Amino acid sequence: MEILRTVSELRQWSRTQRHSGKTVGLVPTMGALHEGHASLIRAAAAWCGAVAVSIFVNPTQFGPNEDYERYPRSFEADCALAAAEGASVVFAPGVEEMYPAGAATFVEVDGLSGRLDGQSRPGHFRGVATVVTKLLIAAEPDRAFFGQKDAAQVAVLRRMVTDLRLGTEIVVCPIVREADGLALSSRNAYLNAGERVQALALSRAVKRVEGLAAWGERRAGVLIDAARSVFAVEPAIRVDYLELVDWDTLEPVETAAPGTLFAVAAYVGATRLIDNTILD
Ligand code: PAJ
Repeated sequence: MEILRTVSELRQWSRTQRHSGKTVGLVPTMGALHEGHASLIRAAAAWCGAVAVSIFVNPTQFGPNEDYERYPRSFEADCALAAAEGASVVFAPGVEEMYPAGAATFVEVDGLSGRLDGQSRPGHFRGVATVVTKLLIAAEPDRAFFGQKDAAQVAVLRRMVTDLRLGTEIVVCPIVREADGLALSSRNAYLNAGERVQALALSRAVKRVEGLAAWGERRAGVLIDAARSVFAVEPAIRVDYLELVDWDTLEPVETAAPGTLFAVAAYVGATRLIDNTILD
């Protein structure tokens, strides 16, 4: 499996695939690949004739006091996993390739960028939207694959792709969980043994909301209170947000309906984790 380092190499690779009649899939990642990423790569390989996996820890989506420097990096193992799951190439640019000296152009999705994670991490979605735009312009994929794990990110990127008429289909893949329910995340590596147990509160809150909704409960206040009560017995966890929102606009709803997003973010020790469910 080839490793590409520059935007022009990626673009040339993609055009060659297209000329030979293949559809091109792109799986954007920040590396530290786990089974959640693997599921995206497998989906891309099933849907597309040629698959590029990008591995780039994007500095512009981290706040000044966040974990950019210590974000887990495991490039060799990532390439092995990508190849085993069916990637045709890995695109692993340096920071100066994605952000040439003096770079001053950013993509901002008004409104949506300030909701959920965008509210607690100012500038985060501007960084995500900017780097994904650059990746989509470089790879010109027919389809790009993202996880529902980052549901607000999906909402921002869908809006962006529609607004910019980028022409790539966004495919959303389900959340991959550990056997005990914890959603897989590269940041789970930061948790110590005690925090790993406490972290289960997030998936318990998700399950509680799913359970009540399955019994017909539609009132946002009731659903959110039920989720909050899961955290009331976990004093070591600081809830960042608990929200029931429209998945397209990320605006809060009073009444849950099919497709409504319940999303939670919480700090377990110093580690910020997220989880969610789409109600049906
Ligand atoms: P990263 O956190 O590496 O995630 C890459 C992709 O894997 C995202 O689409 C994310 O939703 C998906 N993913 C992560 N954990 C998952 C899980 N447990 N189940 C299913 N999918 C999962 O998200 C980013 O990187 C960045 O913001 C990026 C889009 C690459 C832009 O820099």
